[in-house]
Parts: sequence; structure tokens; C-alpha cells
Amino acid sequence: MTDTNTTTTAATDWHAWQESWDRQQEWYMPDREERFRVMLDMVEALVGTSPRVLDLACGTGSITARLLARFPDATSTGVDLDPALLAIAEGTFAGDDRVSFVTADLKDPEWTAALPYDSYDAVLTATALHWLHQEPLADLYGHIAGLVRDGGVFMNADHMIDDSTPRINAAERAQRHARMDQAKRDGALDWAQWWQLAAEDPVLAGPTARRYEIYGEHADGDMPPVAWHARVLRDKGFGEARPVWCSPSDTLLLALK
Ligand SMILES: C[S@@+](CC[C@H](N)C(=O)[O-])C[C@H]1O[C@@H](n2cnc3c(N)ncnc32)[C@H](O)[C@@H]1O
Repeated sequence: MTDTNTTTTAATDWHAWQESWDRQQEWYMPDREERFRVMLDMVEALVGTSPRVLDLACGTGSITARLLARFPDATSTGVDLDPALLAIAEGTFAGDDRVSFVTADLKDPEWTAALPYDSYDAVLTATALHWLHQEPLADLYGHIAGLVRDGGVFMNADHMIDDSTPRINAAERAQRHARMDQAKRDGALDWAQWWQLAAEDPVLAGPTARRYEIYGEHADGDMPPVAWHARVLRDKGFGEARPVWCSPSDTLLLALK
């Protein structure tokens, strides 16, 4: 007798899901790959080429994939709450004993208890912490400070908005959205369309329905300025914090313990 579920799972093209996730995210952030490159440059500069990494709010494991491609001796724990994105991550890295995944809500004060280690050389995150409001984000920064070893790093690549420059922000946003509209006319998939495809996939339909129960379309959070992130990270125990890369819309902030 054929086990339909097993057969379907084995046939799922996880690489294709990774590719389509990357294209969808790049529609919002054309510089996404450059951010990852600089992030890994700073990992190498500060903690070397065989780090133990926590891929925070890992989604499909985009940071982990780039980490292991560049540093084969690295190891990674991915943590996220989304069952569909975690299914893609787990399918992609199945059998790779350098990688493990944990389901946890980063707003849960006990979330670190689910991790396999209590200390990391680097905690890395991208395009995720704007899903949290400032108060839970400040609490999360406290937990991260507890997880990063002395001399280790935390990096957050995300939208960080400077409210003191409204005209610059508006012009940049208008240009970015005009380009996104053009890319959409050329066939780019947006967030909602990508999730519609996941909902229609026989393997991802169940976890996708569960992720909509958890988040709805998207969680609602804040995008405080770089100075807020740097100040809170220092308050929570990091020795230094500053941007190491930025684009007109995004920043990669590095905090050193
Ligand atoms: C836009 S995705 C980015 C994923 C990945 N870092 C990347 O760059 O492709 C945002 C991720 O943050 C995760 N996330 C948001 N809030 C979370 C929370 N409270 N706990 C755990 N994960 C969360 C979502 O599930 C999602 O996977």
C-alpha cells in the first residue's frame, strides 16, 4: 500500500519553494542578497568561519542557507513560529546535522528554553523584528543579550525608519513603490500571492492554514529608528552597536557583546 503523504512529501521541490520565497522577498528588498553578504562578512570578521549561529525568525532558513554555503563548518539553530515556512526550512535541510529548527514565539518570555544551546557566537535576523512592537522587542533584545557569548554578535537587518526625515522617507518610498509596481506588472509575486500558492500546495496547505490562524495576514509591529535599536541593545548588555550597512530603506545593525 502506498503512503500518499510520504510520497507527496518526498516529491516536494523544496529548492523551488526557496527560490520563489527569495524572489518574493526581493520584490520588497532588491538589496536583500547584499545585506546577507555584509552580514556574513561581519560574522567572519568578529566570530570567525565556524560559528554557532541562531537564525532568529528564520522563515525558510534563508540566512542559514547562505551561512552554510559560505562557512561549511558553521552550525545553525533556526527558530520561528510559522509552520509553513518551517516546513520548507525542515524539508530543505533534512539530513544536515549542522542544522536544527525550533518552533517558538519570540514574544513568549520562556522562548529560549526550547533552544538546544544556551549560548551562541552569533544571533542573526532579517526582515522580521518589525513584526514586534517596541516593548516586546526590547524584551527580546534582553533575551538575545543573554544568548550571545561575550565577544559574540547580534545582527538585525530590517526596516528602521528615521522619523526626523519625512520628506526623504516619502520620496524614497514613492520611488521604491513605483519600481515594485513595475516589477509586479512584469510578473513578480507579492506576499499575498505567494501565500495563495502555498495554500494550494498539497503539502503546505495544512501548515499554511495554521499560520493564518496564528498571524492573520501579517503581524502588526513597529519600525523604530536605528538609534532606538542601538540604545536598547546597549541598555540590555551589548558593549557596542552601530549600523554596518544601509540602503535607502533598510539597515543592518550590528551589536557586539
Ligand atoms: C518576512 S519573514 C523573514 C524570514 C527570513 N528571516 C528571511 O529573511 O527570509 C518574517 C519571519 O518572522 C517570523 N516571526 C514574526 N514574528 C514572530 C514571533 N513572534 N515568533 C517567531 N517568529 C516570528 C515569521 O514567522 C516569519 O518567518
